[in-house]
Amino acid sequence: ASAEKGGYDTFMEKEIFDQPDAVRDTLLGRTDEAGRLTLDEIRISEEDLKAIDRITIVACGTAAYAGMVAKYAIEHWTRIPVEVSLAHEFRYCDPIVSERTLVVSISQSGETMDTLMAVKHAKELGARTLSICNTHGATIPRESDAVLYTHAGPEIAVASTKAFLAQITACYILGLYLAQLRGGTYADDAAKVMGELQEMPAKIEEVLGHLERTREIARFMADTRSVLFLGRNVGYPIAMEGALKLKELAYIHAEGFAAGELKHGPIALIDAGQPVFIVVPGPDTPHGLHGKVVSNIQEIRARGARTLVIAEEGDEAVVPFADEVIRIPKSAPLLAPLLAIVPLQVFSLELSTAKGLDVDQPRNLAKSVTVE
Ligand code: G6P
Repeated sequence: ASAEKGGYDTFMEKEIFDQPDAVRDTLLGRTDEAGRLTLDEIRISEEDLKAIDRITIVACGTAAYAGMVAKYAIEHWTRIPVEVSLAHEFRYCDPIVSERTLVVSISQSGETMDTLMAVKHAKELGARTLSICNTHGATIPRESDAVLYTHAGPEIAVASTKAFLAQITACYILGLYLAQLRGGTYADDAAKVMGELQEMPAKIEEVLGHLERTREIARFMADTRSVLFLGRNVGYPIAMEGALKLKELAYIHAEGFAAGELKHGPIALIDAGQPVFIVVPGPDTPHGLHGKVVSNIQEIRARGARTLVIAEEGDEAVVPFADEVIRIPKSAPLLAPLLAIVPLQVFSLELSTAKGLDVDQPRNLAKSVTVE
């Protein structure tokens, strides 16, 4: 069993350390000889794809958070409105779907019943369907008009890690593919962004090489009863995914918030010693979002919160308000989620281990939920 885990104590730890390869392999072979992006299986004509005027992403759990990250990037690159719907909500909300809607399902297993039923429902309503899936020949890709496989390799640990990074990567490839197909300003950027994506595996490796302090913080926090996570823009779904990992692995109450929402309610939860992770957008993020999040850190620190800050290398503005700073390499703002989630995964892994829990098989959870 130890050999299967590649020398790591748990599948979860192995899979976290597999993440540079998961992203690298998902990016592999995506361009044809002419340098144009391609998908794996397309049974939708180019004409129909060009006519798409709405994208709905359907998924559950971690895959839905990958979809929420992707919404920001796909809308930015294609100007097509993207909605993210939990698969079990989509079916029963009388969804607005036409033959010009692309319903993108995201599923590691390709067997999640809620997601499968959403895809079938979308097809009945006349939508085009595309599956982003980690399992070749699974039911959801077989039911879909087009497929883009993530190449994360088999994921054994119940809580998803490497599939999440591969899903974000695949969604970005899809967004750039659609941008290229439709032409316009962002089509020219597709090659540039692909180049930036190719640099991410090495940056993830860098994050994985500097986790000792994160592990130490987690061990000190084994008795913690509640942790909050704040993020903004693409950092918002990362805050929610960070909270989900902590619930799943360490059974600790955790909640992810949009940082801008703090003053509209969650700030009432802040009292002395409350640990809060803050995912800080890089200083180059448009619209001054970096400064706004730094102000949030200042506000909650003034109310006694213990601020655990994830920030880019060289971002000194966070230092005066941070109890801890966890550094990630510089990257394009839309790509930063591939880095920022890694310390949060390791934090939950380490805390779960410190509590003596079964990291690979958390209580009450199944790897793939094949019932509705
Ligand atoms: C289960 C797993 C989660 C996973 C979700 C979606 O709830 O415990 O880790 O994110 O299903 O699974 P899928 O295979 O569709 O990505």
